[in-house]
Amino acid sequence: MSFLMTFCTLVVRVFCFPLHLLDAVGLYKHYKRIVPLLLFRITKLYNKKMYERKKELFACLSDFKQSGQNLTILEIGCGTGSNFHFYPSGCKVICTDNNVHFEKYLRRNMRENPHVAYEKFMETSAEDMRSFEDSCVDVVVCTLVLCSVDNVPKTLKEVQRVLRPGGAFFFLEHVAAEPSSWTYFFQSILKPLCYYIGDGCEVTRATWTHLEAAGFSDLKLRHIKAPLIFFNKPHIMGYGVK
Ligand SMILES: C[S@@+](CC[C@H](N)C(=O)[O-])C[C@H]1O[C@@H](n2cnc3c(N)ncnc32)[C@H](O)[C@@H]1O
Repeated sequence: MSFLMTFCTLVVRVFCFPLHLLDAVGLYKHYKRIVPLLLFRITKLYNKKMYERKKELFACLSDFKQSGQNLTILEIGCGTGSNFHFYPSGCKVICTDNNVHFEKYLRRNMRENPHVAYEKFMETSAEDMRSFEDSCVDVVVCTLVLCSVDNVPKTLKEVQRVLRPGGAFFFLEHVAAEPSSWTYFFQSILKPLCYYIGDGCEVTRATWTHLEAAGFSDLKLRHIKAPLIFFNKPHIMGYGVK
């Protein structure tokens, strides 16, 4: 399989060469304007397929509310705001993303989910959230983001910094398949193409290893098979408590 993998990877790399060139001359960045429109449509389908999983994941969000206060959620890499529907009534949400072009679609989802109080949207990278004080939120949410951040350990360090003690980090991420599987084979060969189409998404990330090493006092992490095409089936979901 290793010769076949090397050969197919090479073919895909050659196919992606024009994309490398666009990136090298600085034209690929314009794709960032189109991504929100694409994602707006894709996440509607994703949410339909993943409805029960998301409902299950977010069911215990309110457990992290402090008595007499509203639950404060910081969502990193919020995209179009596809998780708002699953948040409990009355919670306060702060949204961040490193792509400012999402804001228009985010506002649309905000209007459709009036049960949530929106505090603000900030253009911020998940690896550097210095505009947020230490221990300022009850919950941090991150779905389909750790596959594309530049530095997962740095992101998780920032997540832990902004979480109050006893607060929790909720995640749902697609991840690398088992290395001897055909799914991993296809993930590996199509990786360069996914990177460009998926706006920096790395499909063979073993994200769970970073979560396990991040030092949460309690980590509830499950590997699941998402009801999606075989390539995207391997997911992890759960939460880590600071
Ligand atoms: C696949 S989308 C997921 C959006 C949303 N969380 C969802 O589940 O629908 C990935 C999002 O992560 C954002 N993102 C990628 N790298 C980031 C980074 N380093 N810091 C903040 N946001 C980032 C992208 O701009 C995009 O909005």
